[in-house]
Amino acid sequence: MTLHLFMLMLSLLSGGSARVVQDFEQECGGFFANGKSPTRRPEPQYRQICQNLDNIYYYATYYDTYNRIPVYSAYKFTGKMDCDRLDKWLIEPQLDDDNAGPSMASEGSVDIKLRGIHQALKGDYVKSGFHRGHLAPVYHAQSRDCADATFTLTNAAPQDSSFNQGQWRVLERNIANNLTEQCLQNYSVYIVTGVVPGTTKNVSNRVNVPSHFWTAYCCLDQNNRCQISRGFIGVNENKIPLNITVNDLEKELANLYKVTSFEVFDSSTVPPMKQKNKAFRINVTCSQFWFSFLCVLSQVSFLGY
Ligand SMILES: *[C@@H]1O[C@H](CO)[C@@H](O)[C@H](O)[C@H]1NC(C)=O
Ligand SMILES: *[C@@H]1O[C@H](CO)[C@@H](O)[C@H](O)[C@H]1NC(C)=O
Ligand SMILES: *[C@@H]1O[C@H](CO)[C@@H](O)[C@H](O)[C@H]1NC(C)=O
Ligand SMILES: *[C@@H]1O[C@H](CO)[C@@H](O)[C@H](O)[C@H]1NC(C)=O
Ligand SMILES: *[C@@H]1O[C@H](CO)[C@@H](O)[C@H](O)[C@H]1NC(C)=O
Repeated sequence: MTLHLFMLMLSLLSGGSARVVQDFEQECGGFFANGKSPTRRPEPQYRQICQNLDNIYYYATYYDTYNRIPVYSAYKFTGKMDCDRLDKWLIEPQLDDDNAGPSMASEGSVDIKLRGIHQALKGDYVKSGFHRGHLAPVYHAQSRDCADATFTLTNAAPQDSSFNQGQWRVLERNIANNLTEQCLQNYSVYIVTGVVPGTTKNVSNRVNVPSHFWTAYCCLDQNNRCQISRGFIGVNENKIPLNITVNDLEKELANLYKVTSFEVFDSSTVPPMKQKNKAFRINVTCSQFWFSFLCVLSQVSFLGY
């Protein structure tokens, strides 16, 4: 932790490239439950962004420079607020310009020849019929500055406008209310929100229109276990998203992303469902043993795991 702070200060002092980073678990791991990010992928099109506005970090984004949309944004939820929206959209200068500063900034801050090569620009959305759907939402921000920091196009993807203003907004509010009631008092709350790239549509022939939006939360106790967790996923149209376990969401995402496994929260956090399954397995194993001492041995080794 001390080292982490030290490195953060160093990079700020040097005015260095603190935003698009090699390893966001190292640079801004505080936005992930147990400091572990959701699954990252080996392909070079992905970038790790510690979202920074005027030298303050607000959340982390895993960005897909090929499709020009985020894969996910991750943040700590500490309460809802109802502040005004400035609606001033920024971009991530460092995605296109190696010499750019660490803060998100207006499009004009990047040389026009480089602007938008690796990311979406405002013009891509104009007349597209799609909204700039926030991943880390305004409604979950804790301050005006924090809300402003959600207005970067690296934190947005083309979202059906009635979904954005309808069921997805309802979900953001319900989750905020549920978490405020159930989790904020006793747990640290981590949220990851992402999209699945679609296969049929781009806006302005540049920016992928996602097929699905998803989100998940983990209420982490002092022993770094998710005591309360839930996942939600819906296609990019105005329908009520499914409310499922994080395990089921992870299976669904592995399917949709076409990877062997996808982890939203580190498996060491052991969401309650996983624990139940494990207990069940122990009992089945034990009932099959003839000698009770073998059973005890197996229980000990399972529990130790
Ligand atoms: C999702 O389902 C769980 C379990 O049934 C429930 O406790 C929770 O309130 C639901 N969340 C939302 C936002 O509907
Ligand atoms: C969570 O949100 C859902 C949808 O609004 C609501 O039905 C449920 O009662 C809430 N649960 C808690 C514990 O607040
Ligand atoms: C938080 O923990 C305290 C002490 O264990 C308990 O009394 C309280 O009901 C908990 N709050 C919630 C929202 O679960
Ligand atoms: C969308 O844009 C990408 C990247 O420019 C391109 O590879 C893809 O073929 C386009 N897809 C469609 C359906 O237009
Ligand atoms: C497993 O067995 C223990 C002890 O017999 C029991 O308390 C527990 O409820 C069982 N768990 C399940 C999931 O059946």
